[in-house]
Amino acid sequence: SRSVKLAVIAGDGIGPEVVAEALKVLEAVTQAEPVDFDLTHFSLGATRFLETGDVLTDEDLAAISAHDAILLGAVGGVPGDPRLKNANIERGLLLKLRFSLDHYVNLRPSVLFPGVPSPLGDPGEVDFVVVREGTEGPYVGNGGAIRQGTPNEVANEVSVNTAFGVERVVRYAFEVARNRPRKRLTLVHKTNVLVFSGSLWQRIVAEVGAEYPDVAVDYLHVDAATIFLVTNPGRFDVIVTDNLFGDILTDLAAAISGGIGLAASGNINPDGRFPSMFEPVHGSAPDIAGRQLADPTAAILSVALLLNHLGLQDAAARVSAAVTADIVARSSTDAARATSAVGDAIVTRLTDTPA
Ligand code: NAD
Ligand code: IPM
Ligand code: MN
Repeated sequence: SRSVKLAVIAGDGIGPEVVAEALKVLEAVTQAEPVDFDLTHFSLGATRFLETGDVLTDEDLAAISAHDAILLGAVGGVPGDPRLKNANIERGLLLKLRFSLDHYVNLRPSVLFPGVPSPLGDPGEVDFVVVREGTEGPYVGNGGAIRQGTPNEVANEVSVNTAFGVERVVRYAFEVARNRPRKRLTLVHKTNVLVFSGSLWQRIVAEVGAEYPDVAVDYLHVDAATIFLVTNPGRFDVIVTDNLFGDILTDLAAAISGGIGLAASGNINPDGRFPSMFEPVHGSAPDIAGRQLADPTAAILSVALLLNHLGLQDAAARVSAAVTADIVARSSTDAARATSAVGDAIVTRLTDTPA
């Protein structure tokens, strides 16, 4: 049978708690599949850094790169911890992986599952996907400061947008849109202020769009997009946007569609030259860590994205169905469940519904 080498980075805070449940589900769903997952656990994150001083060594990166895919929980310490200066974990680990492994598509679906309460009340059908650029924009680390610590300090953070980088993610977004029933793509940017990167994104969307006459394209400034995400989320099908706008919009998207505990994501290298990485959108949640309070659903749905990416569509669909059923059942009871109880309930549904 086929063997998949999976690198597992449980990380910090609630990361190990939610990854444990995701792995339970992975094991249960693949029992009936002709595939074996061969797991390697990597101890990485703020905890490892505080113990050893290592963030991500060249050896770690080489070893991870030799895997077929990556499952990540969350990394990062308590925001503001003085021992973790200069975003060393976020930049040196998470973004280093995304950039080194050329994860130029950061795929973040948002679906309001049946029965899930939304802070919007009854917003109607919410089912859209954000295609967030993953390797450029203000995230590249092209910045610097002079006269630091003085009243004359100047700090720059340059957003890098290349025609190559924009084109490949825009093309991917058109493919996603073409394969969805509504076939609608919204470019989100801030072209009224960010004129150089804005006109590059607009030109490329127009050029690539000419090859996709079946996809309806529109445009929103990012500030207006936040209005419509709250007042009329049903208007969205596929959103394509830059790295920073995509980061902000997807926390908002998670909030309106049942909460951050449900939001899954894939950092994809569509060329297949490097392993893609699947992770919940949320972080290490130090405020609730270690108490079995975290919702592992986002991590479990990230396993569904992983399975899809590996071509195991049936297994992915079974995970989604089991999660959907669990979510429906949740809304009819008030009792909050421990992290592991949610994983167990989803595993039970999987084993009760044979492939
Ligand atoms: P966060 O997502 O960790 O937490 C924000 C809020 O959401 C908190 O109140 C938290 O309790 C809650 N929350 C998050 N996940 C939850 C879950 N599964 N179930 C229930 N509640 C959940 O964001 P933050 O507080 O801004 O960041 C904490 C740390 O995580 C920081 O170090 C940050 O840099 C890092 N971070 C890492 C990733 C990642 O690894 N991909 C993503 C975001 C933030
Ligand atoms: C996310 C996170 C990361 C990001 C941080 C932790 C670097 O917020 O995955 O959304 O900004 O991409
Ligand atoms: Mn984020």
